[in-house]
Amino acid sequence: MAQRNSGSGADELKSQLNIVDVVGRVVPLKRAGSNYKGVCPFHSEKTPSFVVSDQKQIFTCFGCGATGDVIEFTKRYYNLDFIEACEKLGKEYGIEVDFSHSSTNKEKEEYYKINREAAAFFYKAFTEKANPGYSYMKRRGLEDGILKKFGIGYADKEWDSLYKHFKAKGVDEKILLELGLVSKSRDGKYYDKFRNRVMFPIINTSGRVIGFGGRRIDDNDNPKYLNSPENIVFQKKNNLYALNTTKQDIGKEGSAIIVEGYMDVISLYQHGVKNVVASLGTALTDNQAKLIKRYTPAVNLCYDSDTAGINAAIRGIDILVPRGLKVKVFHVTDGKDPDEFAKTHGRDAFMKLVKNAPGAIQYKLDFLKKGLDLNNDEDKLEYIKKASQVLKTLSPVEMDIYVRSLSEELKVSERAIFAEIKENASEGSARPAPVSREEGASAHELSSREANVISAMITNPDLTEMLFENFGIMETAFSRKIGYIMLELFGNNGTFGISDIADRLDPDESIALEKAVSGIKLAGREDEVLEESISKWKLEKLFEKEKNIVSRMDMADESGIDQESIETLTAELIEVQNEINKYGGR
Ligand code: UTP
Ligand code: MN
Repeated sequence: MAQRNSGSGADELKSQLNIVDVVGRVVPLKRAGSNYKGVCPFHSEKTPSFVVSDQKQIFTCFGCGATGDVIEFTKRYYNLDFIEACEKLGKEYGIEVDFSHSSTNKEKEEYYKINREAAAFFYKAFTEKANPGYSYMKRRGLEDGILKKFGIGYADKEWDSLYKHFKAKGVDEKILLELGLVSKSRDGKYYDKFRNRVMFPIINTSGRVIGFGGRRIDDNDNPKYLNSPENIVFQKKNNLYALNTTKQDIGKEGSAIIVEGYMDVISLYQHGVKNVVASLGTALTDNQAKLIKRYTPAVNLCYDSDTAGINAAIRGIDILVPRGLKVKVFHVTDGKDPDEFAKTHGRDAFMKLVKNAPGAIQYKLDFLKKGLDLNNDEDKLEYIKKASQVLKTLSPVEMDIYVRSLSEELKVSERAIFAEIKENASEGSARPAPVSREEGASAHELSSREANVISAMITNPDLTEMLFENFGIMETAFSRKIGYIMLELFGNNGTFGISDIADRLDPDESIALEKAVSGIKLAGREDEVLEESISKWKLEKLFEKEKNIVSRMDMADESGIDQESIETLTAELIEVQNEINKYGGR
């Protein structure tokens, strides 16, 4: 990503385009001071919080956090990759874009080409004559049309079929190694990595073959699934299996079903459940959440019914919900996984499971209830305490709904449950999801950091600029509202005072604001205070990220996920820890 932004083509484009014009063609914008405002195309909202800055040539949504330049907008709005977005803009506005100087892209194109050719090689072996791969898939009940649709192939039993094929064409061995198509033995011989396996090409949403999953045919071979290693064209955490094929169905259906495995996807698809993707065996990542959100606001998680699947679902909720996705969670009620269920019971039975699936919060509550006897007072108390942890992250309205039903279920007063939630909230221990941090019971409270930041900006309105890049520092609905007002006032008038903000708030809100900032004395150190607040906040985010990676690693260990994912996570962990050190962390 970053390495490509420096491409001369991109700079040329950006210098000639006006983001207001490009965005304005698809999102109705209204002038708001020096900025333009509209309804965010990236999440659903009624009151516009999507702002486009003519001056800065960027867009920012203060509701969902989407932000970027004209190319980023085009990428996200039309679901394109960087190059495609540039090409589209270039074509529409008659600007010459030339990326041929960018070596990374050239390199990538080469990798894609080789992967595509490998896919064709495997496909040929699968379709042209009898082979164990095809027989295996037939035994598993898959139809020819479906196998073709997903480009399924076969890697034969020889040690060097694919290697010889590429060697004859003069392809560089280094690339084959990097793509994980071949390995090198100790005595320097190259050999095919995938042997006697059914091959699932993994194709990104721009139709490029980025990697493979290969399923064993012989039970004695290990691992069960062999996946391409991470390389410049394949990052597991950024992709969802089959999204290239199913994105239209997902759009049409208005929701996506996320399953664990390759087989689950194609089996469901064959049975008529087409809005389906797989998370490639790993725990769901934030990038995958963002990716799916481009196509649908609603996700149904359907992981295997074992402990690993349940844990993955709980983690998945914490990744998806903060991204603003509407999440339902369920497990198949018969058989090990969706593949087995669909085969035995068919589409309608599966769709019924989807329809009746509980929402994310209900699923979590049900999960916490497991093994507890609610007729026993101690268990009941334990449940209320755990449930409060979940409920404290909700918006006031949601909280109200769940507290009411909890109160009825447990025969405990709503007031007592609210009190429990409040107690939990003030313990200040990690609220799980960063983006979902909404104030519950005390809606108009500002943290001391938020109060400091706001106070610094009121004293020196020029500092408001900092909010553009760091808006996440406003962690509650109330502080975001204030942040938003300050940005607008600053955009319109170039300055403001506390009374200007207060005028735009409800009476109780403005009292709360005045109270929060009244005791703060910055004594000319506004810049310092603000900077310190921002780096503290960034550090917190990094620690949260670190914790998240560590728990995913634990999960991978527990559920016997392949070594490769653990290596990927380790690399992620090292990166985060380096960042932490950079910000003067530990
Ligand atoms: P499962 O073990 O549940 O397999 O792994 P499955 O999808 O049901 O496959 P079949 O039906 O036995 O053929 C779920 C997913 O986890 C990843 C793969 O993406 C797989 O589809 N996985 C599993 C691996 O990457 N490596 C493995 O060794 C096992
Ligand atoms: Mn299976």
